[in-house]
Amino acid sequence: MDNKNRPIGFFDSGVGGLSVLREALKVMPNEDYIYFGDSKNAPYGMKSAKEVRDLTFKAVEFLLNKGVKGIAIACNTATSAAVAELRTVYPDLPLVGIEPALKPAVELNNEGDILIMATAMTLKEEKFKRLMERYKERASIIPVPCPGLVEFIEEGKFQGEEIEDYLLNKINTYKKGKIAAIVLGCTHYPFIKKTLVKIVGEDVDIIDGGLGTAKELKRRLNEKGLLKNSNNSGSIEIVNSSNKKEIIDLSYSLLLD
Ligand code: DGL
Repeated sequence: MDNKNRPIGFFDSGVGGLSVLREALKVMPNEDYIYFGDSKNAPYGMKSAKEVRDLTFKAVEFLLNKGVKGIAIACNTATSAAVAELRTVYPDLPLVGIEPALKPAVELNNEGDILIMATAMTLKEEKFKRLMERYKERASIIPVPCPGLVEFIEEGKFQGEEIEDYLLNKINTYKKGKIAAIVLGCTHYPFIKKTLVKIVGEDVDIIDGGLGTAKELKRRLNEKGLLKNSNNSGSIEIVNSSNKKEIIDLSYSLLLD
């Protein structure tokens, strides 16, 4: 098969990376995609970096065996734990990761604190420390670890009292001051954006890195001459380590969200 016609691989600890895939569908609608969600092992955010690294390598090998021409690690946690090493092991593979979109939040120059919601692991890792270092002089940045939030989303709970209480608990202290922006530093969180808006109000900018990551993936594939020449819309195959039908149904429905 012509390399250009091979599918693009996406990976996340569960259904979160679909928030990145849906952006990729906007910028590369003619491509074929294979999405691998590791819901059986989710959440990754509370595991050790070594465990997440090993699971990420396994997922990448799975996608490569499926014949993908490039991969998006559509998970901030897996990116922190494995992307640098993956680039060394697979130097020729077009590979993108995702990290909290702090730059656009800082560049808004809004008054107040920038809250970064992410998993405990993402906020603990070296990659995030370097990101903070780069921007800490330009803004007041507050990391907000959100253990338990991924679990709601994996269960398909995006609204309702339980999740509103959770978010209110997390955000209440900062609502007393001024919130400049909220960065969604976990790919699961864009799916609860509407509920978050209910808590913080329409005026707070809520930013995620999905579109930026999708564009970067397109750029890398283009650089290697790997974009498909076709005007037909492509196909999407969703594979999940949890064989539950509900997870597969949830995954397809999130793409339409
Ligand atoms: N979607 C993953 C991320 O972007 C969630 C990690 C988890 O499973 O805890 O960080």
